[in-house]
Amino acid sequence: MPTHYDLEGKVALVTGAAGGFGTAISQRLRDCGATVVHWDLPAALERQHLATLPCTGVDITDMASIDTAAAELRREFGRLDILVNNAGIVGAVAPLWEIPVAEFRRIIDVNLFGSFLVCRALVPLMIETARQSRFGRIVNVASIQAKEGMHQAAAYSAAKAGLVALTKSLGKELATADILVNAITPAASMTAMSIDAPRERLDDILSRIPMRRFLDPAEVASMVAWLSSSECSFSTGAVFDLSGGRATY
Ligand SMILES: NC(=O)c1ccc[n+]([C@@H]2O[C@H](COP(=O)([O-])OP(=O)(O)OC[C@H]3O[C@@H](n4cnc5c(N)ncnc54)[C@H](O)[C@@H]3O)[C@@H](O)[C@H]2O)c1
Repeated sequence: MPTHYDLEGKVALVTGAAGGFGTAISQRLRDCGATVVHWDLPAALERQHLATLPCTGVDITDMASIDTAAAELRREFGRLDILVNNAGIVGAVAPLWEIPVAEFRRIIDVNLFGSFLVCRALVPLMIETARQSRFGRIVNVASIQAKEGMHQAAAYSAAKAGLVALTKSLGKELATADILVNAITPAASMTAMSIDAPRERLDDILSRIPMRRFLDPAEVASMVAWLSSSECSFSTGAVFDLSGGRATY
């Protein structure tokens, strides 16, 4: 039986909400009583039939799209307690010198710059909310590749390492505003992002995980739920491992 964290009355936003991790995170936060707003690309939201839940088509690389959606969220809910920056892409799998320049930029744009744009648009509302409630949580979904690097994934690894550094800085900036900012670093999970990778690459990734299995999205949701709750109270700017023992720091 999953632990029930009390998120009653809280408004949470999940980006990449229609994806594998996003779906599990949204469900878990809703099970804990939060109202969850789902942001994802319009086509992804349509595919997952999320229309019965609060959702908005947003491209997190497009500042105008984010600002419009942020204004809508403020109008509709007037508060934001929890932000999960989860949207991401893996992009081209190739040695650094063979990745087209535009593709390298796109990977950085979605995985790093997009989370910056979302935080930029929403942190002011979170600060206002936390002034009343003395509560706010931001969880950034990075990757084990941020810590270790991965061959044929230089842009993705660099972007996720950037997201870890952004987390540490923003955590310090918001430390006295009652808003905790943390990152998680998952290893591979069989979501849409990984499932089409060549068998040899998946075997190679699996061989690096001491537990010898892939991560279950429900395990990601568990950690995010704890990081989004008042049970997590003295950790900020920190990085939480979810790698089955692959990372030892
Ligand atoms: N699956 C893994 O093996 C794994 C491992 C470590 C970290 N991660 C990270 O976890 C997060 C979630 O990944 P997932 O495994 O659920 O993959 P996924 O492909 O199932 O979901 C990613 C979601 O992000 C959305 N997205 C992509 N670009 C976007 C954009 N520009 N604007 C808005 N939404 C956009 C997609 O539409 C999709 O719904 C990502 O940040 C990913 O990098 C995944």
